[in-house]
Amino acid sequence: MIEKDFAPSDYIHDIVEGKVCYKSPSNIALIKYWGKKENQLPQNPSISFTLDACTTTTEVAFEKLEKKSNDFSFDLWFEGEPKEDFKPKIKIFLTRIEPYLPFLKNYYFKIETKNSFPHSSGIASSASGMSALALCFMDLEQQLSSNMTNEYFNKKASFLARLGSGSACRSIEGDIVQWGQHNATEGSSDLYGIKYPYKVHENFKRYYDTILLVDKGQKQVSSTIGHNLMHHHPFAEERFKQAHENLDKLQSIFASGDLKEFIKIVESEALTLHAMMMTSMPYFILMKPNTLEIINKIWKFREISKTHVCFTLDAGANVHVLYPENEKEEVFQFIKDELIVYCENQQYICDRIGFGAKKL
Ligand code: DP6
Repeated sequence: MIEKDFAPSDYIHDIVEGKVCYKSPSNIALIKYWGKKENQLPQNPSISFTLDACTTTTEVAFEKLEKKSNDFSFDLWFEGEPKEDFKPKIKIFLTRIEPYLPFLKNYYFKIETKNSFPHSSGIASSASGMSALALCFMDLEQQLSSNMTNEYFNKKASFLARLGSGSACRSIEGDIVQWGQHNATEGSSDLYGIKYPYKVHENFKRYYDTILLVDKGQKQVSSTIGHNLMHHHPFAEERFKQAHENLDKLQSIFASGDLKEFIKIVESEALTLHAMMMTSMPYFILMKPNTLEIINKIWKFREISKTHVCFTLDAGANVHVLYPENEKEEVFQFIKDELIVYCENQQYICDRIGFGAKKL
């Protein structure tokens, strides 16, 4: 599908008021999105495991205005309190999606949102938050329209979520989601995420992710700034090429179930992401000493235990510890015994692969 396929069709129903609610998950990228072009289009394809426990639940109550207003009309509540400082971000999102949802200025919206994970845990809520909100607005579009296939609904929801936050387009549907044009993946697109369409070995069907909260503080450098530093980055072109190649490799790994090769790709992607940060201008480091302690402990334990535990990182100091279901007891014991001490206030989150967003 191309961009103009997401232009709105005629609305045939008149909906005066109502309420919709969606719960949408976060995701953890195995191949990282880092670097974007205009309009939230990625510089390289990325792929992620959808998470199950880290979610945002968003309820949107809407009321039709007497006449279309000049500006967006909405209030935002976060975890039971009005949240003025989130409003500018939502306004930018609404401005970006309005060309595809022209009814937005016809309504007043009360947006109430909450996260399942602790506030300021250093876990990015933009993926779950923006996807949940995109789904709520899509639901209203569906109510206004004559008929809409499920496939179109999910694609457009992903397309809209992308305009809020790139990684959010990987949080709509599926356990493994790919975003970004990739020659060897039929149906892949820069515009939206797709459910990974090829064979996935049993080894990857029930993967676990324990998120170690090393540093719960506010990120020193936002993802948006980080992405922008990939413009004129001396290693950018090589990096974008590498992501394509890693995705080629990952396709055969997913099919064969080769955990050793999986680990190589996933850990290399995490370190490459941080290497890009360290070699941009200005340069920055998001890992903390405890991030490195954990990585070294994981490497040592993997060697001794012959398990297939590995790590990945997002744009922060927290460590995602990934492991297959059949090793979960042994690895989780190791995490409790040896890694939790490196977390701020010993905090961590147990998560695993989930299947995407749900209407509540
Ligand atoms: C390191 O999706 O948060 O987590 O599009 O500016 O909102 P924006 O960026 P965002 O970037 C996520 C970057 C990452 C890698 C990934 O999730 O692929």
